[in-house]
Amino acid sequence: MTNQQYAGRDLSVLWHPCTQMKDHESFPIIPIKSGQGVWLVDFDGNRYLDAISSWWVNLFGHANPTINAALKDQLDNLEHVIFAGFSHEPAIKLAEQLVNITPEGLSRVFYAEIGSAAVEVALKMSFHYWRNLGKARKTKFITLENSYHGETLGALAVGNVSLYKETYEPLLMETISVPGPDCYNREAGESWSEYSARRFALMESALQRHADEVCAVIVEPLVQCAGGMRMYDPIYLQLLRKACDRYGVHLIADEIAVGFGRTGTMFACEQAEIRPDFMCLSKGLTGGYLPLSAVLTTDKLYQSFYDEYQTLKSFLHSHSYTGNALACRAALATLGIFQHNDVINQNRRLAARMAKLSERFNSHPNVAEVRQCGMIVAIELVKNKQTREPYPWQERRGLLVYHYALSKGVLLRPLGNVVYFMPPYVINEDELQLMVDVAWNGIQYAVQD
Ligand SMILES: Cc1ncc(COP(=O)(O)O)c(C=O)c1O
Repeated sequence: MTNQQYAGRDLSVLWHPCTQMKDHESFPIIPIKSGQGVWLVDFDGNRYLDAISSWWVNLFGHANPTINAALKDQLDNLEHVIFAGFSHEPAIKLAEQLVNITPEGLSRVFYAEIGSAAVEVALKMSFHYWRNLGKARKTKFITLENSYHGETLGALAVGNVSLYKETYEPLLMETISVPGPDCYNREAGESWSEYSARRFALMESALQRHADEVCAVIVEPLVQCAGGMRMYDPIYLQLLRKACDRYGVHLIADEIAVGFGRTGTMFACEQAEIRPDFMCLSKGLTGGYLPLSAVLTTDKLYQSFYDEYQTLKSFLHSHSYTGNALACRAALATLGIFQHNDVINQNRRLAARMAKLSERFNSHPNVAEVRQCGMIVAIELVKNKQTREPYPWQERRGLLVYHYALSKGVLLRPLGNVVYFMPPYVINEDELQLMVDVAWNGIQYAVQD
């Protein structure tokens, strides 16, 4: 079978996510036969360097031998079991380890299957907690401009990227949206921390006005990924933690994209030295192998639900594949790699290399900013460097970078006009160089009129 044969079969029965399917009249879908390390291989033998970790899930490469071996062993023992009334070793071990590695005080783990489901769980738990305390007026959530938390209806409602949200707005619960700390918008000469701290005044005033009707503030710590890899300073999280305590509002840290080393620390919250009331994890949790998510919360929260059955305080949120044994085992193998290798320190060296190699983009006449947070580098393309006038979205310049890069064997998938690198942690020097060179040439190709 060739690419073309699979592509034909695919397009006659499948409907792909985040895709205008008509685009595939001009650009063929790419069927992948196998993966190895940072490389994906199609049915015609073409290779693609996975510079975006397959939507930010892959940490230690495709077909990772350690995770493969763990899964093969798990398959021979238990694939899945109902997670109500039953349990199993991988789920227990994984919860113990997650409690150990996340900020102190997050002592309870609730599993779900995907990132969006974890967000739904955190929202419902927060609301339900206040109800348990008799505070039924608390029904709202505060969210930051340009944030993204997934695409199920609750998660979509607390996100703010209009591309995903606008059409479905009539279906969504009302939220309170606050202008964010995204440092792309800082004044000339203003530091990240000055800008992020200054922007906190807007959050403070929203909390002041709405605290008695608000359950929680939900944020993506340090990097708003789907919103164009926009970044902000940890000071904002510190101020937010203190304010949430002052106003009696929960803090939900959505670390689904940034957790597991992406920002340079195991979890982004560590850089602000804060403990959220809820931490949502997914994506890298299983090393990019299987869908699994987890919500961590405190004993205080857990205890508010712990009562006689007749009080009807049980947290009723159940997915069929909750705590799937194979997924938990993949996650354990992933955490094992963190334990047995000095991953966070190795990533520091990788991140420094990415910084060095990406310096050249600063001088490009159509690049407004090159920004970095740990293992994430983003390059903001603009029509006019001086005024920062963006390219009209209809021109789809980022898409031109995508197609160019694919033709040169690199999978980059810009977010609008933001080209970014978020590679698996096993990328080597030559591969980094290739990724950056192809991005440079792709940008040259995309900005010509
Ligand atoms: C910060 C954040 N939260 C939630 C989600 C949703 O996760 P999922 O796509 O697994 O539902 C994403 C996905 O990109 C994300 O980046």
